[in-house]
Amino acid sequence: MQPNLNKAELVQELKTLGVLEGDHLAVAMALKSVGKVEGGAATFVEALLEAVGPGGTVMMNTFTPDFALSEIKVQNYIYHRKTSPSTTGIVSEVLRNHPAAVRSFHPSISVSAIGYHADTLTRDHDEKAPLYQPYSTLAEINGKMCFIGIGDNLVAIRHQAQYLAGLLQSVPMKKGVKYCDEEGNQKIFVHGDCAGCTRRLPELVPKMIRQGILKEGNIGNARALIGNADQILSYMTTVLKEHPEVNLCDSPFCLWCRELEKSLGPEVKSGQPGFLQRRGLSGMFFRIQHRVRMRKYENGIHVMPYVKKFLRYPLSVLKSSS
Ligand SMILES: CC(C)(COP(=O)(O)OP(=O)(O)OC[C@H]1O[C@@H](n2cnc3c(N)ncnc32)[C@H](O)[C@@H]1OP(=O)(O)O)[C@@H](O)C(=O)NCCC(=O)NCCS
Ligand SMILES: [Zn+2]
Repeated sequence: MQPNLNKAELVQELKTLGVLEGDHLAVAMALKSVGKVEGGAATFVEALLEAVGPGGTVMMNTFTPDFALSEIKVQNYIYHRKTSPSTTGIVSEVLRNHPAAVRSFHPSISVSAIGYHADTLTRDHDEKAPLYQPYSTLAEINGKMCFIGIGDNLVAIRHQAQYLAGLLQSVPMKKGVKYCDEEGNQKIFVHGDCAGCTRRLPELVPKMIRQGILKEGNIGNARALIGNADQILSYMTTVLKEHPEVNLCDSPFCLWCRELEKSLGPEVKSGQPGFLQRRGLSGMFFRIQHRVRMRKYENGIHVMPYVKKFLRYPLSVLKSSS
């Protein structure tokens, strides 16, 4: 275990990894994997800002909850751009609260950025924009992606690649959330681009390392990956467009992959569905559970959330009276 990393050491490690002054850098990370950082997440944010310098930019995902279509109305959660905390790690939450941070307007897949291109990366990212649009903008401004301590999961940008390859649009699963717009009006946001399954996408990473698209290094104890956003996005989009079957996992319980498989049609040889899914009774079981679970994401009325709410009511009355 590496002892207390301070800001200067972090800056040095970021530079050794390949971060340059003037870089426009999107970072996705797990702080715990780095080891002990003096001053915690706040130090990490300062180190990132120092590494890219005043002419550079740091962007992080500051995602927030969204829900299956049928559950949006029964949820008490309402998203507020200024106050709703990020669910994508403590460093992203500290960055979001930085006085210089700008958060994009998207009600569930927002990003926050500080620096030279903070406005460029966030201003058009609202409820009408593609969910992961800032990653295409990052590619356009020749930005970089850095992944720290999260294995071969090229989070977020992989979904923009799925979107650009047309895969997200092929799967009819709807999600959304209640949110307060900039004028304070409560609205409902619904989208049909449910983030795709990612179980198999780490398989692309060793190939991207071999081709020089990604470079490996370390930040503290964590393995880190860095690469040009445009190259990562182009590579993943091309592979997924030409061979969408590489995205298909083999879990019979994966709604997203099984729906994608249907839309790709029989000419795409995926090797799916598995043996159990094809056979008599077990096949019927998987088809029924799939249909039942899909209803939550479709327009059909799904009664379970209302039943659950109804059942919770007498319990909450009992609790408050005891
Ligand atoms: C989910 C995820 C954030 C979890 O990583 P994590 O390291 O466990 O969590 P955080 O980055 O929030 O850091 C909090 C942890 O840092 C640790 N920590 C606290 N102070 C610390 C310090 N000074 N130095 C180092 N670590 C510290 C804590 O142990 C805490 O873990 P705990 O809550 O289990 O005690 C990470 O795995 C991940 O996926 N990151 C990418 C997120 C993303 O962009 N997702 C997009 C999906 S498409
Ligand atoms: Zn899957």
